[in-house]
Amino acid sequence: MNNKTVLVTGGAGYIGSHACVELLQAGFKVVVVDNLSNSKPESLSRVQQITGSPLTFYQADIRNKQALTDIFAKESPSTVIHFAGLKAVGESCEQPLLYYHNNVYGTLVLAEVMSNANVKQLVFSSSATVYGESSSVQYTENFPLGPINPYGRSKAMIEDILRDLSAADKTNQTEYPWKIALLRYFNPIGAHESGMIGEDPNGIPNNLMPYVAQVAIGKLKQLPVYGDDYPTRDGTGIRDYIHVVDLVKGHIKAIEALNSEKFEAGGCKAYNLGAGRGYSVLEIINAFERVTGRKINYKISPRRAGDLAECFANPDLALKELNWKVEKNLDDMVADTWNWQTKNPQGYI
Ligand code: NAD
Ligand code: WQD
Repeated sequence: MNNKTVLVTGGAGYIGSHACVELLQAGFKVVVVDNLSNSKPESLSRVQQITGSPLTFYQADIRNKQALTDIFAKESPSTVIHFAGLKAVGESCEQPLLYYHNNVYGTLVLAEVMSNANVKQLVFSSSATVYGESSSVQYTENFPLGPINPYGRSKAMIEDILRDLSAADKTNQTEYPWKIALLRYFNPIGAHESGMIGEDPNGIPNNLMPYVAQVAIGKLKQLPVYGDDYPTRDGTGIRDYIHVVDLVKGHIKAIEALNSEKFEAGGCKAYNLGAGRGYSVLEIINAFERVTGRKINYKISPRRAGDLAECFANPDLALKELNWKVEKNLDDMVADTWNWQTKNPQGYI
């Protein structure tokens, strides 16, 4: 049994809710802070049903410094996993100030409250989106950063802020240094094997997998395949899809690493969380049809602005330093997405 308390910002969301399950099952006490701007409290009821363990939930905005300060005083967390953020690339281009305010300012407030409470262990949800253009399609952590939209830039700015915070510890010779893991997710998909929690996008999904699932169940008529003339094996875009349960297990491994001798002197380090291999859009469609027996109606459409032909992770560093790698395969990701979709055709209601 592990009695440490982990404060999870954004814990009611897609990835956060799966993280809460893993944390509770690993014996942590879990405190969720979420403003429910993109989630429903039902996800947290389901987390408690799956695990048979209670968690504590505060409906609060991370930008509310007083509320956050009070929560830290009451709950005394040892670690924070910071998922809270807005994540729609298109919306970030329309409303950049909203994205910078929510994601960057929100993290500033969180970091100040943590510092004041002397809680200096943080796992941050970054993204493969922070990488810039590269001659290689397999991304390694030391590649140059260069995001191309406000959402991606908000993540890169937060990474910079957290690196600066950690660097200041060395300058100041702080007794209790920051210990920070920046986890750069590739493309999380899938759902918990129970089918009780999963991704519940508002309106028409932006991302491939929830779109495919909604076509399969008949909610949407046809999947637009954004481009079949990329320089890839079948002309469609290739991404590194990762099962959300594998992804959240990486967070538990990160907490373990932050508590180990590796981070004894503090530090801020980035890790790719991906499978290390890519699938094309057509390969995803084929896998979905094979695993579910449903036909996916699709139409080749123009390329989507800002999309890359291909990218996937080099996950070697996470294996070496966090002792983490993916365990699930594409069929698991498809089957679990479909299980969630069929059990919850309208999402959380
Ligand atoms: P999500 O929208 O399902 O979850 C985010 C949660 O944060 C939501 O419950 C939302 O209500 C909450 N939230 C947002 N702003 C808040 C604020 N100011 N105060 C309190 N709560 C707030 O998204 P997700 O897919 O679970 O993503 C979680 C994190 O992972 C995000 O930071 C996202 O940018 C990052 N990420 C996601 C992906 C992906 O493809 N899903 C990929 C890379 C990185
Ligand atoms: C995957 C592939 C599309 C939808 C996005 C964000 C990124 C990260 C993860 C948070 C691409 C194609 C998609 C559709 C399609 N999120 N596609 N038809 O673009 O790799 O990454 O989510 O950090 O920041 O940009 O994921 O699922 O949108 O697209 O053909 O209706 O599917 O062109 O090749 P992406 P995605």
